Amino acid sequence: MTTFRIGGTAQFFARPPDLEQLIKLVWVAQKKGIDVRILGAGSNILVEDKIIKGLVIQLSSPFFQTLQISDDKVIAYAGVYLNKLVHFCLRHSLTGAEFLSGIPGTIGGALVMNAGIRDGNITRQISDIVECIWVIDYNNGRIKLILAQEAGFAYRNSTLDKFIVIAAQLGLSKGRKQQIRNKIKKYILRRRDTQDWSYPNAGCIFKNPPDASAGQLIDSCGLKGAIYGGAQISFRHANFILNKEKAKCSDVLNLMRLAQRCVMKKYGISLEPEIKIWK
Ligand code: EPU
Repeated sequence: MTTFRIGGTAQFFARPPDLEQLIKLVWVAQKKGIDVRILGAGSNILVEDKIIKGLVIQLSSPFFQTLQISDDKVIAYAGVYLNKLVHFCLRHSLTGAEFLSGIPGTIGGALVMNAGIRDGNITRQISDIVECIWVIDYNNGRIKLILAQEAGFAYRNSTLDKFIVIAAQLGLSKGRKQQIRNKIKKYILRRRDTQDWSYPNAGCIFKNPPDASAGQLIDSCGLKGAIYGGAQISFRHANFILNKEKAKCSDVLNLMRLAQRCVMKKYGISLEPEIKIWK
């Protein structure tokens, strides 16, 4: 269930069919003292090779993959894949979400991580187009509306992990279909040219430090191609670690530590993981 294809099994796993069942599930887990984690597309996590204690919930039922439109606003539920959102916007001639093309995530995951890209000198993040978010508050099981400015959005971060994201309202604008289509193509081609999806992986492993590129730093330490067990630092993009052959979680962690050590020694820069590690 992860794009890395690494990790043990969950003690409990659920795909609630609708909001009512989700709220009940959270309430029961809370009452029984069971930890809850939300799994999106599994594209930004590294899971340990053991039983993951607690309840893993995936919001992938049709209800949580709903998209609604009203003028230039779109309401996207947590389980909607970003590519589906992008094509929905194209169909309705809405511009603003094209930069999310090709990111292998869901709306829920993208909001919690504040997913984004670098476009020349500009950073584009989902927080640029979000107006508000509906969440479930773990403490009382109630639905709460959070405005974008209250969501603690920062580079690849937010404070939304304290909640379960249900849906978000995105503010877009009317555009010309052909232009939107061209932008989507441009973003997808750029990803294809620079990233490495030849083997299972989790995208960029580390965040970019201020004014630097994690990939470039790891590359300049000569670490492309470094192998630990079944995992390898990609030759194409040094911020990608590939699961080449039945890699264990510890293989990836060892390569991560190697990269952190080398970059610290050579540049005095600390690399902070972007991926979430489930223990
Ligand atoms: N570079 C190298 N060697 C490498 C990799 C990159 O020299 O091995 C150089 C590139 O030539 C370029 C610079 O580093 O000059 C930046 O590389 P790139 O354009 O590939 O972008 P990035 O900063 O590594 C960021 C995001 C990506 C996003 C791309 C494209 C982060 C951590 N990464 O990568 O997001 O797709 O921009 O917009 O912010 C992700 O979050 O999982 C992710 C892949």
